[in-house]
Amino acid sequence: LPIAVLVSGSGSNLQSIIDRIEDGALDAEIKLVVSNKSDAYGLERARKHGIATKVLLHTDYDSREAFDTAMVQAINEAGVDKDGAVVMAGFMRIVTSVFLGAFVNRVINIHPALLPSFTGVCGQGDAADYGVKISGATVHFVDEQMDHGPIIIQAAVPCQPGEGGDALGSRILKLEHRIFPQSLQWLADGRLEIDGRFVRLKPADT
Ligand code: GRF
Repeated sequence: LPIAVLVSGSGSNLQSIIDRIEDGALDAEIKLVVSNKSDAYGLERARKHGIATKVLLHTDYDSREAFDTAMVQAINEAGVDKDGAVVMAGFMRIVTSVFLGAFVNRVINIHPALLPSFTGVCGQGDAADYGVKISGATVHFVDEQMDHGPIIIQAAVPCQPGEGGDALGSRILKLEHRIFPQSLQWLADGRLEIDGRFVRLKPADT
């Protein structure tokens, strides 16, 4: 499965995908890593593994659509089209129909909370501060609303009273590193069937 990975920061989820590809557990090829931040450590991780990178600054474009058009073009040129997939791994931008139309049902995101709770940029901290007893991570298909599309998989962790977003977040991150590559492998195997809000996991070919 040819994929592009979009990052804005540390890229530890990108690293988990690279690692699973390198150890043979994930049948995908990262054709391009795109960042909207020139100093994202995710870019460095990609370079260390000989993966092509591109920085596209959203501030260079006057609309979300213009930025998305540039991203689609870069991703297509790298060899990922509607039969590939785009992975948002800590990518802190909302994409528009311009982007989603180029990769219909092929864009996935990970969110560090159990959706639909605690959407937005601080899912871990918001859950910790709310005092929930369980939080976790959600991998979902991306639609035009933030942290909203059909859910592929969720994983849960118990929360400790008063532990704060950082401690909770680091435990959630460990789950993310398991379920994100897993979701991608399901996509690569053609096992994910979207039916409205529902994502069905079809049986593996034997
Ligand atoms: C992760 O917690 C992810 O769920 C969220 O942003 C964080 C990115 O971490 N959307 P990393 O860049 O993959 O290390």
